[in-house]
This record gives sequence, C-alpha cells and structure tokens, in this order.
Amino acid sequence: QAEAEAAVAAAKEAFPAWAATPRAGRARILHAIADGVEKRLEDLAGVETADNGALLRSHRRGVMPRVAHNFRFFADRLLELDHESFLTRGHTNHVTWDPAGPCVLITPWNAPLMLATWKVAPALAAGNTVILKPAEWSPLTASLLADIAADAGLPPGVLNVVQGYGAEAGAALVSHPDVRRISFTGSVPTARRIAQAAAAHLTPLSLELGGKSPLLVFDDADLDLAVDLAVEQYDNAGQVCLAATRLLVHSAIAEEFTRRFAERASALVRGDPRDEATDVGPNIHPRQLEKIHGFVRRAVAAGARAVVGGGPDTDLGGLHYQPTLLTGVTQDSEIVQEEVFGPVLTLQTFDTEDEAVALANGTRFGLAATVATGDRERAERVAARLVAGTVWINCFFVRDLRAPFGGSRQSGIGREGGTWSFDFYCDLKNAVTAPEGWTRHG
Ligand code: NAI
Ligand code: MG
Repeated sequence: QAEAEAAVAAAKEAFPAWAATPRAGRARILHAIADGVEKRLEDLAGVETADNGALLRSHRRGVMPRVAHNFRFFADRLLELDHESFLTRGHTNHVTWDPAGPCVLITPWNAPLMLATWKVAPALAAGNTVILKPAEWSPLTASLLADIAADAGLPPGVLNVVQGYGAEAGAALVSHPDVRRISFTGSVPTARRIAQAAAAHLTPLSLELGGKSPLLVFDDADLDLAVDLAVEQYDNAGQVCLAATRLLVHSAIAEEFTRRFAERASALVRGDPRDEATDVGPNIHPRQLEKIHGFVRRAVAAGARAVVGGGPDTDLGGLHYQPTLLTGVTQDSEIVQEEVFGPVLTLQTFDTEDEAVALANGTRFGLAATVATGDRERAERVAARLVAGTVWINCFFVRDLRAPFGGSRQSGIGREGGTWSFDFYCDLKNAVTAPEGWTRHG
C-alpha cells in the first residue's frame, strides 16, 4: 500500500515535465530504451525463462526482439500522429493528443515483458507517466526494464515499477484518485474488481481478458496446414490468451484430422524450456497445474474422452502437463465454455457453415478466431460473421502493431495498438480559434 502510494506520488510529480517534453525528445528516449533491451537481450531472455518457464528460444528470437520493437514502433508512430485541423466559418479547430496523466498498467505472467511493454511504450510515448505492476508469479523482467529505462535517460518518476500481490499492491493502485488510466491484461474476475475500483473515480480503463477462441477447419482446407495450426495451440504450454483452444472440424474430415493431429502432437518434444529442441515446456506454477488438471478431470467425468494426453506428464514430473485433446464434449460444458490456460484443446464437429459459426460464437468470449479453408469466398463470409477482435485465415498469430488488438464480449473492453493505443492513452482536445480581427458583433 505504502509503495503503491509513493509510486503514484512520484508519477504525479514527474508528469508535467515529461508531458511537456517535445515528441522528438520522448521518441529519442524510447529508442534508447529499445537499444538497452537489445543490448541486454540474453539477460532478459534467460531471466524470463527462469521466472515463468516459457521457452528460452522463443524469448531470444521472438519475444525480446518484439519488446524492443514495441518501444521503436510507438516512438515512430508518435512522430507520425496528426494534429488534425479544420475550419468552421473561419474558425480553426485544432485537435491535439494531450497526455492524460499517471497510468497504472497491470500485467499477467504468461508473457510478462512483452505484455508490459505493449502498454508501457505507448503510455510513455503519449507523454504519460507510468506505474507498472507486474504479476507476482513473474516479477523479474519488469524490474530489469526499470534499470534499462533509467540508463536510457528516462527521468526519475516517469516509469515506476511496484512489485506485489494483486489484492494488495494492485488494488491500491487501481483505486487511487490521481490515476488517469488503467490498462489491464488478465482474468475476467480480476477485471470486474478493477472496473469496480475504477468506477469510484471514473478512471478510463482498457481490458484484455483472454478467451476461448475457435479454430474452424472446413472440409476444403489444406489438412496439413490445419493440423499445423492446431498443434501450434500448445505454444507456451497453452498459456496464451489468443490460443484457439476449441477445434471445430467438419465431420467428413474429423477422423483423418484427429489421426494426423494425434501423430503430430505426440511428436512434440517436451522438456526443459532452456533446451533448443523443446517444443512444450512446463506450466508456470503448481496452482496453475492443479487448475488445468481440475478442468480435465471434470470434463472426463462429464463424458469427454482424452484422445491425446489427459494428465500431468509423469515422465517429466514437476510442472509438466501432457498436451491434451478432448473429444466428446458438449457446447454448454465447462471445458468448452471456460478458459483453461494450459495445453488442453477440445474437438467438436460440424456439418454446415451455419453450425460452425454458431459453435464458434457460442461462448461469452470473443478475442480471436482462426479459419482454415481453401475457399476465399467462404473465408470472407465466415470471417464477417465471427465475433472476434482478430480473425486469422489460413494463418495464426500474425501480429502487426499498427492493427487494433483486443476482444469483444467478455474478452475485453477497448482496443490497443497503433492509433488506438494513443486514443486510449491521450486526452483529445479540440481548441477552436476565432479568425484574426473577428468580433462577435461585427
Ligand atoms: P489475474 O487476473 O488474477 O492476475 C493478473 C494481474 O492482475 C496480476 O498482476 C495480479 O497481481 C493482478 N491483480 C489481481 N487482483 C487484482 C486486484 N484486485 N486489483 C488489481 N490488480 C490485481 O490472473 P491469475 O489469477 O494469475 O490467472 C488466472 C487465470 O486468468 C488464468 O488461468 C487464465 O485463465 C487467465 N489469464 C488470462 C490472461 C490473458 O492473457 N488474458 C493472462 C493471465 C491469466
Ligand atoms: Mg488471480
């Protein structure tokens, strides 16, 4: 509580000077932070893997370069932001993107530094000061980021990192009256608590809350591609908000799909996340492992069949769970409706496009959807009907920072990315100026 208080006070004090720093100056420091991330890439990758157990090779090659890119992208985008102007009967309207104030950023453990910097970079670029509270299960890289930012010349108080539990440090931050934005990625129940706290001061908030995304496989799909896309969903041991955990497969190809999928899934290399060869590493915490297995046990008790995996990985032990595929599940069952956040997929079949769309849209979530089909027109038709913030067609996880990102329904509120990040992190102002020499009474 006391640290949260001190961090908000520091952010409030540092705000006027940072907000007044010209855009080019802010952009220069963001690029210097990116340089620092690149210089310490090996450290950051190793620490992140030690902390949350995700693959070292993906931290090295995918995640940490993306962390640096987050800073470069929003620095460059800031310099391109237009201050729009237009005339009303000779009066100039001048619209500016003004900094909003101290921002509280609350992040989860599944992709700690990537998700933190996806918020920190645009918040700082916009001229705001930041209080970042990383997840208690993966706190370390956020503190390294604070060091890197200080070395890069970011003034004291502009980026503050508060370590602590959600119910203590997090709750104190999101209910603070001096906070002007809250951006949160995590679970739905926590989002509800944060929204309640934010209501007290009407603090604007942006929420990204995971999902239960579908992968639709039509009978005209390239089956090898479809199987590849499905197996990719075990990435990060299934701890990915965007994961397409519900495989919806046309009944004519379901048997062949399942056979090939099982073959591919059992060939995945399970093991130490520091090994280059490992495809699926451990889950993050005994509590998460227990949670995952609880979902699977209840699904099996309700009639589901594990055609791949189905329990903790007894060969490897520790926090390893077997990549799992469950069939014989019904649309209204818990395993189809709730986010597991582990290497657990379900498979359901459909006969018609309408049925596929109804199953796909039949949860309270709407973060993403993936479609495998060889028919362009079908792809367009189906994509238009899917409730999702992102739809991928014959691909997965292709992300462009210029694009809006976020979820529909209970997958979230708002969009971040590109201009939408600035839309959230800025207070827009329209200044209307009378023409020179103009008087009200002529
Ligand atoms: P969580 O939503 O409780 O935690 C996320 C962050 O919120 C952490 O930094 C935590 O300290 C903070 N927090 C918790 N309570 C808070 C409060 N009252 N006020 C302010 N901040 C608070 O997620 P948790 O419990 O770690 O994971 C549970 C489930 O949530 C997962 O199994 C998964 O289904 C889902 N999840 C979704 C994520 C996504 O990417 N959308 C990421 C992480 C979890
Ligand atoms: Mg929690």
